[in-house]
Amino acid sequence: MEASEVAACWEANAETWTRHARAGYDLYRDAQNTPAFFAHLPDIDGLDGLDIGCGEGSNTRKLAEAGASVTAIDIAPTFIRHAQEAEAASPLGISYRVADGMALPFADASFDFATAFMSLMDMPHQDRVLAEAKRVLKPSGFLQFSILHPCFATPGRKVMRDEAGNVLGIEVREYFRVGDGEIESWRFGAAPAEEKARVAPFRVPRFHRTMSDWINLLVATGFRIEHMHEPGVDAQTARAVPYLADTYVAPLFLHMRVRKPVR
Ligand SMILES: C[S@@+](CC[C@H](N)C(=O)[O-])C[C@H]1O[C@@H](n2cnc3c(N)ncnc32)[C@H](O)[C@@H]1O
Repeated sequence: MEASEVAACWEANAETWTRHARAGYDLYRDAQNTPAFFAHLPDIDGLDGLDIGCGEGSNTRKLAEAGASVTAIDIAPTFIRHAQEAEAASPLGISYRVADGMALPFADASFDFATAFMSLMDMPHQDRVLAEAKRVLKPSGFLQFSILHPCFATPGRKVMRDEAGNVLGIEVREYFRVGDGEIESWRFGAAPAEEKARVAPFRVPRFHRTMSDWINLLVATGFRIEHMHEPGVDAQTARAVPYLADTYVAPLFLHMRVRKPVR
């Protein structure tokens, strides 16, 4: 799929996505993915950071609240408009702009760190976005990103449940098939039924890569792998919050922090 088609899909998703995410329907993000990401983020107080694929800016604002001076980009103008409106309403000093993560409009060595929350697996040329992230980082700067877990969130992933709804396992399909923008249609699962019925589903182009593809890409780009994390819930949380129970069996997300060598 062409990058322009990918951008068009995200622009079409952006209005409902923003409204639903801000209503709290992106429960995996709010209850698990973002808290885990920040728990493993180094101290960013006083640093210059770039958020790649910022969406409506919820996680970007958390970076700014942690003391960083943040610039953020997204391919979809509607996401950037909503993020800028939130900035105007409660200023945190964040600079937003529409841009493509695969061609970043910033000079070499501009940032101390970069983040990409759940956006890299949505880009057709991950080698380019990784090379661009490395280029705009200062020497010894880091990139921390989250993606759908390459092993357990393959295209067509299904959660297997018994009749009582208890999670039995995760069905993994097509792990080895390299993604080329196959569209996945879905809504945030936590949205109320009447709200789901009222909106068109998101159309999300996927560019699935295997675990070894990701590791080899990072190494080939010249990053040093520093930290990995696979968020999941314990048995007690799985019982208390059934929505997240699949992540007791296997992780839905993979977090990585990689660093640009000094030379
Ligand atoms: C799953 S959303 C995540 C949004 C946000 N980071 C968050 O955590 O809520 C993926 C985001 O990546 C953006 N995106 C996709 N392709 C992009 C590209 N080539 N350059 C910049 N952003 C892109 C989409 O517009 C969307 O906002």
